Amino acid sequence: MSNAENELNSTEDASLLEAQRRSDLIEQEIKKDPSRFRVLTGDRPTGHLHLGHYLGTIKNRVRLQDAGVDTWVIIADYQVITDRDGVGPLRERVLSLVRDYISCGIDPAKSTIFNHSAIPALNQLMLPFLSLVTESELHRNPTVKAELEATQGRAMSGLMLTYPVHQAADILFCDANLVPVGKDQLPHIEQTRLIAQRFEKRYGHTGMSHPVFRRPDALLSNVRNLLGTDGQKMSKSRGNTIELRMTADETAKIIKRAVTDSQRTITFDPENRPEVANLLLMCSSASGESPESIADRIGDGGAGMLKAEVTEAVNEMLAPIRQRRNELEGQEDYLLEVLRSGNEKATAQANKKLEQVRAAMHMDY
Ligand code: TRP
Repeated sequence: MSNAENELNSTEDASLLEAQRRSDLIEQEIKKDPSRFRVLTGDRPTGHLHLGHYLGTIKNRVRLQDAGVDTWVIIADYQVITDRDGVGPLRERVLSLVRDYISCGIDPAKSTIFNHSAIPALNQLMLPFLSLVTESELHRNPTVKAELEATQGRAMSGLMLTYPVHQAADILFCDANLVPVGKDQLPHIEQTRLIAQRFEKRYGHTGMSHPVFRRPDALLSNVRNLLGTDGQKMSKSRGNTIELRMTADETAKIIKRAVTDSQRTITFDPENRPEVANLLLMCSSASGESPESIADRIGDGGAGMLKAEVTEAVNEMLAPIRQRRNELEGQEDYLLEVLRSGNEKATAQANKKLEQVRAAMHMDY
């Protein structure tokens, strides 16, 4: 590694440490006074939610909501077309997402569930925001780069290049001051803060009693990323995920097919035995027991016993969620009602914010 790279990495480490320190402080503040915070988080409706989503993000949203944090969840339907031509069965997916959210414990009476395409004023913020970023800044964004690589040479659309700006609009329109993210998403929060700051610098004037936009913070998640049952990145297209909507039997079948290795004795060794370690982590996240202790218990019981344990733990955790999901079968009117009332609230907020933006930009005729 060159000196320059070394330096870059240590700067990255330092800023990660700083972000973690800030996140820890915020967690303490949430305990003291959750009403100070508004969270914005969301998903692209590109498929059905799976175990990775539940453990990685959804569970945390429910925790924040139940702690008393005002939680806004965006179904990012415009993001679906960043890297694909068609939208797929979008209506079905959006409604399935609302159903999954409610089944997991996101309570529409407490949290606001809404979607991009229903909120014109949110999308209009894209115009002034685009004037506040440079093209090279967008090209440098690490997730834009990663998304581009994932599309395997497919030409990058303008929407893909500018999606961090659109996300900034998602966050800033609703006055969110907290965004739960993994560490790879930190640059998005930084970009969002920059846009807010540049807007204020350009359009803020002495007559204004307070800034137009709040500066959001990242809430870093410490959850370990689970891999799919084949030891590869969890992804619907690989068929290696456990979807929330699956039955207990379907879940058992997928776990039975999971890749392990040729060693009989089960040990927790993420470095040398990634597939076995992943199954242990899956079991641990579902049951709360540590992966080491599960491995000790199973020992010479081998992969068969390990898979049986994973299946039981995962199915047990998902049982109440699946039950609620089944209860919502055929309740499309209710799901639409949840979305419409979320959209109504988000629209009112977006209109208010756009008014402030217009006033600051002297466009309030
Ligand atoms: N990109 C996020 C995802 O794919 C969803 C999302 C859209 C989002 N807008 C956001 C997340 C703003 C955080 C902040 O899951």
